[in-house]
Amino acid sequence: MGQVSSALNLWKEQLPPTPCQTIEMLGVEVIVKRDDLNHAVVQGNKLRKLKYNLLQAVEQNTETVVTFGGAYSNHLLATAYAARTCGLKAVGFVRGDELANQTSTWSECLNQCHQLGMQLEFVSRSDYRLKTAAKAISEKINALEAAFVIPEGGSNQLAVDGVAELVDELVTQVDEPTHIVCPVGTGGTLAGVVQGVANNNWRCKVFGVAVLKGLHGVESQVYQWLTDGINLPEYKVLHQFNGGGYAKNTQELIGFSLGFEQETGIQLDKIYNSKSFYALAQLIKNQQITTKDLPLIIHTGGLQGGTNQIGDQG
Ligand SMILES: Cc1ncc(COP(=O)(O)O)c(C=O)c1O
Repeated sequence: MGQVSSALNLWKEQLPPTPCQTIEMLGVEVIVKRDDLNHAVVQGNKLRKLKYNLLQAVEQNTETVVTFGGAYSNHLLATAYAARTCGLKAVGFVRGDELANQTSTWSECLNQCHQLGMQLEFVSRSDYRLKTAAKAISEKINALEAAFVIPEGGSNQLAVDGVAELVDELVTQVDEPTHIVCPVGTGGTLAGVVQGVANNNWRCKVFGVAVLKGLHGVESQVYQWLTDGINLPEYKVLHQFNGGGYAKNTQELIGFSLGFEQETGIQLDKIYNSKSFYALAQLIKNQQITTKDLPLIIHTGGLQGGTNQIGDQG
């Protein structure tokens, strides 16, 4: 019971909606949903995606939450924090067994996970690719008492349900936009936004901006998460703004992101939001979105711990 109340403390039903800020981008009015302001550590889409996962873990009397991430994973850090808040143990399988004996080279993210009590298990890249199908990983998980496994990036159906609530919030805050834009890694966030738009009978277009190169296949994954596939708004993944690949950046992207911050005071992380905001600017520049439209872009966070490191976040 103590666990339940502390879990609910992090996801209070009455948590105020994250603010919507209106800015101008190349002469077009743009609404920015500032989900980056929802929590310092379990930030942006992480708070949304972990909500029902952690509540379910607590409900099932789970002892340990298990998840996966790279050395700079936002998701790993958010899970370490959230699990601790819920009174649960956390185990993080981290890509790269060479890190096990090199604590001095650990990223700020790994140090913070460790300080939050997460047990870090460093695994080879080949085992990491296989996740729970790798013998070394499954054996460790099976040895744990009542473990709840959250996939890499935190994306599953429960995460999608959590993200969909973001649109429930929007409906109380703004007029229906013409477009909603968000970044795409695993696609859970995009699926949640599309589901939320459908749940609220909005008809706006939803554009997801892929931040990885060759992310083909994410569309079918997103579709699988969309519960009944009916009444869905038009949505698509834009693949041309990945900046060369995951955690890669072009000079143009970096320049855009710095200029945007100077102009609006809104900081963008280098992996996800600099690419989605840049994509929106390009859509406006190419007149695919004009002054007749009312686009809305979701700032999904990525700035937890005050860091904005280039690395394999997720
Ligand atoms: C800040 C941020 N934005 C967007 C994403 C992409 O979300 P998804 O993996 O659900 O597509 C991530 C990764 O989870 C992220 O850390």
